Amino acid sequence: MTAPPDVPDAALMAAVHAESAWPERAWSEAEFAALLASPGTVALGDARAVLLGRIAGGEAEVLMLATRPAERRRGLARGLLAAFAARAAAAGADRILLEVAEDNGPARALYDGLGWVLVGRRAGYYRRAGGAPAAALVLARRAGDADAATSRTGHGKSS
Ligand SMILES: CC(C)(COP(=O)(O)OP(=O)(O)OC[C@H]1O[C@@H](n2cnc3c(N)ncnc32)[C@H](O)[C@@H]1OP(=O)(O)O)[C@@H](O)C(=O)NCCC(=O)NCCS
Repeated sequence: MTAPPDVPDAALMAAVHAESAWPERAWSEAEFAALLASPGTVALGDARAVLLGRIAGGEAEVLMLATRPAERRRGLARGLLAAFAARAAAAGADRILLEVAEDNGPARALYDGLGWVLVGRRAGYYRRAGGAPAAALVLARRAGDADAATSRTGHGKSS
């Protein structure tokens, strides 16, 4: 069996994303490849869970975070967020931002538990098949907060 790559590549990112049962459409391998090739992009994780982020201009953003369904509730997402926060702080970023759909209960529980705060709301941002669109909540936290830079699992490889 081939070991998963140390740093997730576009194919792995697309596979984990497609399995993640997002209400939004899956991002293609080509879309991930384009994001990975753009300046400041950081890819963390492995075949179980992946985080794609960007660090630029003193600010960092989580672009995508997903854990394969069979691997959830093991602290993998929390570990990836901690690893990304540490990376962002080391790169001189003050703040990390992300967007989460208002109707995404698991993700909101994850971010609430880690102390992310609401800084904005974009109404009607995510299309929903057969239903009303969901708002995007913009959440933020300081990159250097102690509890953002530690995790219970320590998971999260970096390139
Ligand atoms: C949201 C997601 C990334 C969480 O990944 P995960 O690896 O299971 O998360 P963790 O195990 O690190 O969870 C850490 C904490 O978050 C909270 N949490 C995570 N999933 C939860 C759920 N389904 N219900 C309630 N709380 C949850 C809990 O407080 C959990 O701690 P605990 O297990 O000790 O109670 C995962 O459910 C996923 O991939 N969802 C689909 C994609 C997605 O929505 N991504 C985020 C978009 S912004």
